[in-house]
Amino acid sequence: MPRGFPVDDMPLNEYESLIAMEMVAPEDIPVGFDDIGGLEDIIEEVKESVIYPLTMPHLYSHAGPLLSAPSGVLFYGPPGCGKTMLAKAVARESGASFINLHISTLTEKWYGDSNKLVRAVFSLARKMQPAIIFIDEIDAVLGIRRSGEHEASGMVKAEFMTLWDGLTSANVSGLPARIVVLGATNRIHDIDEAILRRMPKKFPIALPNKTQRRRILQLNMQNTKCDPEHFDLDYIAEVTAGMSGSDIKEVCRDAAMAPVREYMRQHRGTGRSITAVNPEHFRGVRTEDFLRRQGGPLIKVKGQS
Ligand SMILES: Nc1ncnc2c1ncn2[C@@H]1O[C@H](COP(=O)(O)OP(=O)(O)O)[C@@H](O)[C@H]1O
Ligand SMILES: [Mg+2]
Repeated sequence: MPRGFPVDDMPLNEYESLIAMEMVAPEDIPVGFDDIGGLEDIIEEVKESVIYPLTMPHLYSHAGPLLSAPSGVLFYGPPGCGKTMLAKAVARESGASFINLHISTLTEKWYGDSNKLVRAVFSLARKMQPAIIFIDEIDAVLGIRRSGEHEASGMVKAEFMTLWDGLTSANVSGLPARIVVLGATNRIHDIDEAILRRMPKKFPIALPNKTQRRRILQLNMQNTKCDPEHFDLDYIAEVTAGMSGSDIKEVCRDAAMAPVREYMRQHRGTGRSITAVNPEHFRGVRTEDFLRRQGGPLIKVKGQS
C-alpha cells in the first residue's frame, strides 16, 4: 500500500471511500520543485511556512499553535505561471496525503449527499494527516458568482467553511489538525471574502521576469541539442517578455521543431525512407528558431514590423 493511503486499521465509511478516489500518492506525482523555474523564493517560503509545520510539527511544538501550518493557503496570479504545478510539487515533496478535490465530486454525481461528502473530505483528511486538500481554480468552486456550472451550493459552501474552521481547534494532542486547504486561482477577485479570510497565506505567482524566464527556458531546453555558436539564452529571455511559463514552453517546443522541419524539407525527394533519419544529424536549435514561428512571428523584435 503506498504511503498516504488508507490502511486496514483506519476503515473508511462509504463517503470517505468516494473522496479517497481523489487522493494522489505523492510518489506518483511527476513534478518536483526542480522542475519549476524561477519560483525559488516562493518555494523556500512555502517550505518554511507550510511544509515543515505540516510534516515536522515537533520542530515547532515549542511555540504551540502559533507556528502550526496555516489552515488555508492560496496561490494566485495569471494563468500558465506554475500554480497548479507548484501545488503538485508541494504534495510530492512534502509526502503529505494529497486530496485533489474536484468540486464535481461533491455536487454533480452525488446530488443530495453533498453535505455528507463535504464532511467526508475533512474526516478523511484527519485520518490521513498530514494532509493537503487541494482545490484548483477555487474561484469557480467557492466564488462569488452564482451561475457557475460546478459551483457548490450555498449549503455545501457553508458546511465546508464550518469544517475548515474546525481545523484550527485543538485535537486530542492539544495541537491543531495537520491539514491544509490549498487553493489556486487566476481570478482572486472572484473569490468570496469569507474564503479569502480563511487563506491567510497568499502567494502571488506573477508573470516571470527576465531572470525567471531565463531559468524556465533553460529547464525546457536542457535535453535539447542547441547550436552553441548561435544560441543566445539572454536574448531569448529578453524577447519573451510578457510571456507566461506555459507560453515559453510552447515557444521552446516550436523552436525545437525547427531543425526537424528543416531536415525533413531538405531530405524530401531524396527518396530515402523517413525511418532512416538519424536525429543526430539534426542541427542544434538556434536563437532565430525562437523568433519566427509557423503562422507568423510570435515574438516581436524591436525595430521589426
Ligand atoms: N515557472 C514555471 N516553470 C516551468 N514550467 C512552467 C512554469 N510555469 C508554467 N510552466 C509550464 O506551463 C504548464 C502550465 O502551468 P500551470 O502550473 O498549469 O499554470 P497555472 O496553474 O498557473 O495556470 C506547466 O505544466 C509547465 O509545463
Ligand atoms: Mg492551474
